[in-house]
Amino acid sequence: MRSLKVVSILTGLLAIAACATQETQQPVARPDVKFGKPIAAADLAPWNIDVRTPDGVGLPAGRGTVAEGKTVYEAKCTVCHGVDAKGGPVYGTMVGGIGSFKTNTRVLTPGSMYPYAPILFDYINRAMPMDKPQSLSANEVYAVSAYILNLNGLIPDSAVMDQNSLVKVQMPNRDGFIIDDRPDTQAVRCMTNCK
Ligand code: HEC
Repeated sequence: MRSLKVVSILTGLLAIAACATQETQQPVARPDVKFGKPIAAADLAPWNIDVRTPDGVGLPAGRGTVAEGKTVYEAKCTVCHGVDAKGGPVYGTMVGGIGSFKTNTRVLTPGSMYPYAPILFDYINRAMPMDKPQSLSANEVYAVSAYILNLNGLIPDSAVMDQNSLVKVQMPNRDGFIIDDRPDTQAVRCMTNCK
């Protein structure tokens, strides 16, 4: 039973990898493969949480306000990230630093670094709180994302974050990334006389 479960989970992960950009994910019938069993949609759903961050495809339904986010934050995040996300015993500040990437003293925060606001949702949704990842509801993740964006001065106190509004938040560093065009980053396969 255990190995069947592992195989079906692996099959699910492969299906996610194969269909990452498609919105509907149908199990592929493979009568030639004589092991495992098709994974049920409900079993696949918890794994299928990726968000396409530039346009928010994959963001779930739900909503959250800045005030709700403050409540979530104080209950579940302050212990590591500190009061008002200004830094705590486990991690430095998640507020400010905007524009600092153009100076010699970069301060990396979601506000100063992330090019797209849905990255914040995706990160928190899959990884936080670090000691209990994936324990938050979608509403809680929207709310706490709103709170952190608000602390960074990027959305007003009255803002409500959901799958539409989050995508529209203008992140200050959106155009701060450059394509690395050095030849050795192009991943061109070399088969003979390679360096
Ligand atoms: C047990 C400690 C702990 C708790 C609780 C916790 N975090 Fe974190 N968090 C971390 C650590 C450690 C990192 C850095 C992880 C890394 O860099 O790999 C982090 C990173 C982050 C980041 C990325 C910051 C950046 O600069 O890119 C965000 C956003 C975040 N946490 C949000 C939250 C939220 C929201 C909560 C509450 C729901 C939370 N965290 C609860 C430990 C914690």
